[in-house]
Amino acid sequence: MNRGRLLPLACLAAALCLSCTPSTPADPEPGDADALDLERMLRQARYVPYQPSELFNDGSVMRRPPEGTVPNDRATGDPGLTRGVAGGAYVTRIPVPVTLDLLRYGKERFEIFCAACHGIAGDGESEVARNMTQRRPPSLVDARVQAFPPGRIYQVIVEGYGLMRSYEPNIPLGERWAIVAYVKALGRSRAAALDALPPPLRERARKELP
Ligand code: HEC
Repeated sequence: MNRGRLLPLACLAAALCLSCTPSTPADPEPGDADALDLERMLRQARYVPYQPSELFNDGSVMRRPPEGTVPNDRATGDPGLTRGVAGGAYVTRIPVPVTLDLLRYGKERFEIFCAACHGIAGDGESEVARNMTQRRPPSLVDARVQAFPPGRIYQVIVEGYGLMRSYEPNIPLGERWAIVAYVKALGRSRAAALDALPPPLRERARKELP
């Protein structure tokens, strides 16, 4: 416990028992190697933002960022690709080529990052969901979420949503779109019309399904 938290306790003890001596240790003498002073950084001479300073010609402690500096939260390049939103609207097509490899990758990342809450099948059945006392992680395969444009699901991964935190720092751009593609595939796998399948698969499904 640091002295900042000990001090009020010591004052209280002193107030309750006026004859007792407060037990707060005195400031250590300079050169006393045994005394551990944890607050030197708080007390050292320093500038705070917007303070005047004689060190610089413009009299301010604040420095202008170098020419060409970009704030790290500015959308660069193609905002549809990086944020899932372009021209004020959610992206309606996944902006990277959707291949079988991308879906396999999306499955792996989904199972690592999302399944703990939304369930391996994306249906919202998980140990976490069962134990949530507030809003549960919803099913991602029901009609409501499946109706979301891909950019909306992407945006939830980047920015979070309500109780769900942002996964932007953990999941890089390419993995996010792979996960979005897999969430869409999970939805289709639940309610695929036979007629929507490509002909060879349709034939196989007809033979194998009861
Ligand atoms: C720690 C638990 C947790 C994890 C992990 C998690 N989510 Fe969520 N998610 C939630 C909760 C809880 C909600 C509901 C939030 C609310 O309504 O406040 C939610 C909501 C959502 C929604 C619905 C948003 C809406 O508009 O209704 C989507 C889509 C979603 N999550 C996708 C994902 C994806 C994709 C991943 C993996 C990258 C993921 N979630 C990881 C807990 C989680």
